[in-house]
Amino acid sequence: MKQPKRYLITSALPYANGLKHIGHLAGAYLPADTYVRYLRAQKRDVVFVCGSDEHGTAIPIQAKKECTTPKAIIDKYHEAMKQDFKDMAMSFDIYHRTSAPIHHETARDFFTSLNDRGELEIKESEQYFDEEAQIFLADRYIKGTCPNCGSDRAFGDQCENCGRTLSPDELINPVSTLSGKVPVKKKTSHWYLPLGKHETFLREWILNDHKNDWRSTVVGQCKSWIEGGLQSRAVTRDLNWGVKVPVINADGKVLYVWFDAPIGYISATKQWALDNGKAWEPYWNDNDTKLLHFIGKDNIVFHCIIFPVMLKLHGNILPENVPANEFLNLEGDKMSTSRNWKLEMRDYINDFVKNADGTDKENGGGQCVDMLRYYLTQIAPETKDSEFTWKGFQDAVNSELVAIFGNFVNRSFVLMHKLCNGKVPLFHNDIIDDKDKDLITRIATAKENITASLEAYRFRDAMFEIIDLARAGNKYMQEKEPWIVARQATKAGVPIPEAQEQIDNCLHLCMQLCANLAILVNPFLPFTAKKLCFMLKVVDKMLHWENAGSMKLLSVGYSLRAPELLFRKIEDAEITAQVEKLKSGLIKTNNNNAKLTPAMKQELKPIIQFDDFAKIDLKTGTIIAAEKVEKADKLLKLEVDLGFETRTIVSGIALHYTAEEIIGKQVTVVTNLAPRKMKGIESNGMILMAEDQSGKLHFIKPETTIDKGSNVS
Ligand code: 2FM
Ligand code: ZN
Repeated sequence: MKQPKRYLITSALPYANGLKHIGHLAGAYLPADTYVRYLRAQKRDVVFVCGSDEHGTAIPIQAKKECTTPKAIIDKYHEAMKQDFKDMAMSFDIYHRTSAPIHHETARDFFTSLNDRGELEIKESEQYFDEEAQIFLADRYIKGTCPNCGSDRAFGDQCENCGRTLSPDELINPVSTLSGKVPVKKKTSHWYLPLGKHETFLREWILNDHKNDWRSTVVGQCKSWIEGGLQSRAVTRDLNWGVKVPVINADGKVLYVWFDAPIGYISATKQWALDNGKAWEPYWNDNDTKLLHFIGKDNIVFHCIIFPVMLKLHGNILPENVPANEFLNLEGDKMSTSRNWKLEMRDYINDFVKNADGTDKENGGGQCVDMLRYYLTQIAPETKDSEFTWKGFQDAVNSELVAIFGNFVNRSFVLMHKLCNGKVPLFHNDIIDDKDKDLITRIATAKENITASLEAYRFRDAMFEIIDLARAGNKYMQEKEPWIVARQATKAGVPIPEAQEQIDNCLHLCMQLCANLAILVNPFLPFTAKKLCFMLKVVDKMLHWENAGSMKLLSVGYSLRAPELLFRKIEDAEITAQVEKLKSGLIKTNNNNAKLTPAMKQELKPIIQFDDFAKIDLKTGTIIAAEKVEKADKLLKLEVDLGFETRTIVSGIALHYTAEEIIGKQVTVVTNLAPRKMKGIESNGMILMAEDQSGKLHFIKPETTIDKGSNVS
């Protein structure tokens, strides 16, 4: 098979409107990273791009939810997602963002080039307009009744209840989510990409040229789009957040997010080239580049139909493949942000990998990153939806990584130290037997199979083959029993030389297999490969893919380090705790801040002036009485002595403190907050609390007790 001259690998640009979960990781990022690491191990010319998708209505909607600006939202989540990907060892060459000026310029030029050549159509249509807010309503800003299931929680683009894709016109009793008013229809003009004109090209390219090498799920989805009739797609929107349409008199119009986002792959490549003194053009224009888009199944139409048409019209290369994954479910249910049924990368990192200060957890760090990478690869939804369960995770780690892979490596090292003085023993060719020959052949075959699977984006199969190879190593050792041979190696106190030769041969092959496993596992579990290299005292160069299959990776007589455990066991208690946490909804959905590190929390809210701050009256006070509020799990009714008066304050701290334990505590009170009734009790102020990473609340109070009613500023 002829290798292309260079590769450009993309992973879907995630929306910068929230933290991403392990379903995203398994879908578009982990397989791409594995593939890229495999290419790099062959010294191929590869650029791996990703970044945050910072436009579209998702961003202003999130800003509204969090009472902040769209800019604050993208800044916060861009940094947070970048950190999460880094912590999970995604080895992007660049993690860019679509708010960057270079992206706006690239997207505008792209649009202009298509528009100037008459490839876009302008059409007038009637769209919903909010007269009170004076804006055209994006589909997501319209709510109404679903024509399919009757739910009154349907949006203009989709029904949250039955999942049906909708258009705003289909909604019964539409209402603007901005003003709560009934929107009116108003004429507006937009630019459209006439997909129908490109039907022949799409049919040929997907349904003919790629019918066998693309996943059948991908071809199937494309086929139904093509056969359903390709409609013109609007590529602009009436919105004030995004890339401005580069045409005069197009005020208030931006490029549709799905027009600009994939161009983000190009602008990211440009930025990477600028940063590295390289040329970006060959990666997008030269036919000898292999372009691959790794995505989840909800992105198929955009990457296989719309973006390819744009690329063709613009004169760029087309993707060679789009290995889209299906969805990953969690503990028997669909992952969902709104229902809080999900496991975010950050949750896993906080619980298993890193401490709040960024240091590795004891028993965590890279091994735990590799454990999740392993399980997600093992259950990758390559052909159909699959499922993450904590029990499955525990089984995969304990029964495969620990009991098979880790065990083989550990036994090999321990026995080599015990029976061969810690040095790679000689292989005595003259006593080679069938078992030795089988193992040598098995290693070579494994390399071929793993390579073939990786080339076909079958990551599950490749991972399975690696574990199977380690399993073969265990079996070989079990059959050879070098520890028994060692026990019988003397006859009447006289050493039998043949016995040591047998031991040497066995451990020589086992050590060479350990080195092979390091190379083969490297694209999947990079921390494990690195640790193996350390134990084997070899440099990273050994991990070159070409070296796999060789039985000469370690030199005879070379002394190796003592073994370290590659993977720890996952205890039952950890699994139970995770399942409980998931079920009790303790992983907070909309309070993602609780999971961010302090560095990521900066700039959460827009700047205020000193005068704004000075309006807040803060004073110290002492809690002199406290009691639970009836029928309200979270509320305590407090009496707070401010020195000059005593206030009743209702505070949402009952899940963190009992009434008894807080009496006598000094606190900081916002004293001029407008009174508010909670459960029929008027609250006259607010107690300041700080929330730590785990969501626990702490009082903000002076270092030592001071006079009640002292000013805080
Ligand atoms: O589904 C999503 O999260 C989109 N933001 C993916 C965009 S991929 C590409 F086009 F940028
Ligand atoms: Zn519905």
